[in-house]
Amino acid sequence: TCAQTTVTIQEKENAPIISKHIYGHFAEHLGRCIYGGFYVGEDSNIPNTNGVRTDIIEALKELKVPNLRWPGGCFADTYHWKDGIGAKEDRPTIVNQWWGGVTEDNSFGTHDFLNLCEALGAEPYLAANIGSGTVKEFTDWIQYVNHDGESPMANLRKENGRDKPWGVTYWGVGNEMWGCGGNMTPEYYANLYRQYATFMSSWNNDKGIYRIASGANVDDYHWTEVLMRDIPKHLIEGVALHSYSFVEWNDKGPAANFNEKQYFKTMERALNMETLITKHVAVMDKYDPDKKIDLIVDEWGGWYNVEEGTNPGFLYQQNTMRDAMIAGATLNIFNNHSERVKMANLAQTVNVLQAVILTDDEKMILTPTYHVMKMYAVHQDATLLPIDLKSDKYEFEGNSVPAISASASINKEGVAHVSLVNVDMNKAHKITLDFQKMKLNKATANILTSAKVQDHNSFENPNKIVVKEYEDFKFKKGTLELEVPAFSVIVFEIK
Ligand code: AHR
Repeated sequence: TCAQTTVTIQEKENAPIISKHIYGHFAEHLGRCIYGGFYVGEDSNIPNTNGVRTDIIEALKELKVPNLRWPGGCFADTYHWKDGIGAKEDRPTIVNQWWGGVTEDNSFGTHDFLNLCEALGAEPYLAANIGSGTVKEFTDWIQYVNHDGESPMANLRKENGRDKPWGVTYWGVGNEMWGCGGNMTPEYYANLYRQYATFMSSWNNDKGIYRIASGANVDDYHWTEVLMRDIPKHLIEGVALHSYSFVEWNDKGPAANFNEKQYFKTMERALNMETLITKHVAVMDKYDPDKKIDLIVDEWGGWYNVEEGTNPGFLYQQNTMRDAMIAGATLNIFNNHSERVKMANLAQTVNVLQAVILTDDEKMILTPTYHVMKMYAVHQDATLLPIDLKSDKYEFEGNSVPAISASASINKEGVAHVSLVNVDMNKAHKITLDFQKMKLNKATANILTSAKVQDHNSFENPNKIVVKEYEDFKFKKGTLELEVPAFSVIVFEIK
């Protein structure tokens, strides 16, 4: 039996733009994300562009990746960028102390990353080392990548073969400073942040410099409160937040062969992003009512137990329709909070956590999460159409979450898009999309769905889950009526 959900969509004056940066990604030196993922080296048999897999570059271009965060994560506060420039054979090694204890040769460094961003047309977001670095090391990095003139670091960059600066706007001042970044108290970090931010010059980078404070762990509202209270506004543009979806931290459950209980718990955590953002924003509103400082969710996604036989420190996991649910529902939440949420980074792009791409030697597959990201790219930089949603529930063993999640936008050409997710793994839900006074001439739609919620693409069957056209809807006087199948994502285009 189908229940009924109504989504009312209304144009509103001064509605926020959905920043394209909400659709950002994150690539850490972790497992096979960089080495053996993105980066195979120039001598590899796998077709590559300066050592980076060409198939990955092409696939990510299709996603219109707006920004990419690097080199961590926890790795960031161990990373010394000067070890990753100059002749590759002369570079010192680094042991990845957080992830798998592997020794890296630093062959993928600042030039490699920033050239990759140029190839993707993505803005780089560099996470700097505060935990074990120095102010000088940090400010030298900014000078190295941004200074167009005579300076020690600009000269060094030129010696290393890059004449013009790349122009890096987004900078993270440390990562998870409450944990792997140094186990700091918020008061201590706020002071340290003030010190570091004081010396951060944009070196006349056209777009200036955008400083992001390492943010709260999930529902640590006190962390946000202290940062907002203690950091002067002229020193900060964004404050971060990290939250992952899993069954339980100590046993995150299998990535593919999960049961309904594990599925439901993961959905509860994913949908809790709504509460997290609402409450962190309420704290921010108290200190910054004019909304000058942005909320940056620079790590989010599903986190499960690693695939059998893989290094536990490499965080390699399959990606199923459950991940498509997390992606679709979370991006809807970000869109609907686009007044304050200006950037987000899904963890992590290739072979790690909720990846959009998985590789196995020369093979590459696109995950259900990839397809959701691609379907949703239509929202990038479009104007939010606020919605009023009364959703039916998805119930499991006496608990419930809203079954339907939605968001909508209208782009510069006047084309509207509505994205709908039904997280209920057991039944379809009837939906009425009510467009009020908006004109409805023509609607088309795409769907991502599969026979089982545990379904995923594999190297043997890479196109098991792909986006398909969806025509099973009806126009009725200013409304659209449809039934969203269990665990599926639908995106409408309305002209
Ligand atoms: O994304 C994996 C890890 O999760 C990151 O290194 C860290 O920032 C977070 O705890």
